[in-house]
Amino acid sequence: MANLERGATAPPLPTENVDWTPSQWERYVTKALTSVSNASTAWNDRTPLPTGEHVLGPLRSLPDEGAPIDEILARIDDEVIPAAAFNGHPRWLAYITAAPLPIGVVGEFIASALNQNTALWRIAPGATRIELETLAWIRDLVGMPEGTEGTFVSGGQMANIVAHAVARDAQTPWDQREFGLRGPDGAAPPLRIYASDEAHYCHAQAAELLGLGRSAVRRVPVDQHYRLRVDALAQMVAADRTAGALPITVVGTAGTVGTGAVDPLPAIRDFCRREALWFHIDGAYGAFAALAESRPTSLDAIGDADSLACDPHKWLYAPIDAGVTLIRDGRRLERSFAFHASYLHSAVSQRGPDLLERSPENTRPFRALKVWLMLQACGRRGYAQLIEGDLRLAAHMASLIKQTPTLELAATRDLSIVCWRVVPPGRWTAESLNAIQDAVIDELAKRGIASISNARLANGDQSLRACIVNFRTTAADLEAIVSASEAIGRELMGMLVVAAES
Ligand SMILES: Cc1ncc(COP(=O)(O)O)c(C=O)c1O
Repeated sequence: MANLERGATAPPLPTENVDWTPSQWERYVTKALTSVSNASTAWNDRTPLPTGEHVLGPLRSLPDEGAPIDEILARIDDEVIPAAAFNGHPRWLAYITAAPLPIGVVGEFIASALNQNTALWRIAPGATRIELETLAWIRDLVGMPEGTEGTFVSGGQMANIVAHAVARDAQTPWDQREFGLRGPDGAAPPLRIYASDEAHYCHAQAAELLGLGRSAVRRVPVDQHYRLRVDALAQMVAADRTAGALPITVVGTAGTVGTGAVDPLPAIRDFCRREALWFHIDGAYGAFAALAESRPTSLDAIGDADSLACDPHKWLYAPIDAGVTLIRDGRRLERSFAFHASYLHSAVSQRGPDLLERSPENTRPFRALKVWLMLQACGRRGYAQLIEGDLRLAAHMASLIKQTPTLELAATRDLSIVCWRVVPPGRWTAESLNAIQDAVIDELAKRGIASISNARLANGDQSLRACIVNFRTTAADLEAIVSASEAIGRELMGMLVVAAES
């Protein structure tokens, strides 16, 4: 039991506000569990985004005294759940936020209860082993070879940043960690990274954080399918070399955040091999689609990457947060991150690695546990089926859009992102058509029909965008969304006409 008698002036805090007996664990967790299971089922009774007024009340001041646990837990039902966005809802198709698998949610709970610090083998031997095993399973899923090592991080952004740090250190002929970007004599050439115009902004952020500056990231033009143009890449690398810069890394995106385009990864790989460049794949969204039968075949080159960023919290349906960096030459992780701080090492016999030496994090959560549980629950085949299901649904949605006269498919569909536009008959300015797309997204949410998001097309036009990383979504959901987008688009255009005439 908690020691609440440490000082004469100690506030009268009830013991159960600090520590619980087994029956209190049972009682309060059961209560929380009821809230969670209600919030994770009965989808027809709720909308993907909160539609009420619950979201922004005035912010309260911090209480001086502790409140009874029952009262605090009641706030979950009264204040937290009604204001939540339900990204597990079958009609949640916004951004790239997966529905979480229930077994993963349980893993998150257990991980926080066990509170393992996966920094050191000595203080988290079992958790370290599970992280290593999970990373090896993920390596096998994406087809990278033995010798590949990885690290769990918070998400795709961090996974890419970690990979860029390793690539920078591997590709510069001087000791980057000791001398930094300017090199030992202060005259090192500027480094260059190549990523398509459609690549995620995390690569620019990596360049900023690593001290290269954003201008070090060369934006390579894309083709009409939003895929990186290798001919343009080759010209840019040659021009940079002529100008005295040092090209180090090419990023191939396996599923862009906008339209889900998969870059020509085999051609990028071959170019990198010829030019001695680091081949990084940003597979935050699409890496695990490599498991699916109807995947774009260029995903088969993922196994050849020097580094891969992938996101279990996207297409492995893990609860947030879970990102992974895999490095083909696994020893490079320690070369980039190990510090061997003396206070962390003791004479205790060591039977495994200290994962902090492979990571920019010191205290590290037990992120692998939920993924380890999910991988066992679904297995390779189960994941292949779930992801294939998402791809087929996206194909179905794209064909529905094509068949609807007042809708048009706005981009090639490579994975499970579908982009479309509402184009009612008549002559409309680009501006009013763009405004209509925004308004349709808004109305779908406000009317509780669906949560989708937008993509900006190459010509600057706005489009509707649905991303299916959701094992609950059905064909009927997509049919309802497509027809609602068409009907709302017509309705809004009608209002515009009336406004223009009056
Ligand atoms: C291609 C790509 N890279 C990186 C990220 C960043 O991932 P996260 O949001 O998990 O940090 C995303 C997010 O959507 C993405 O689509």
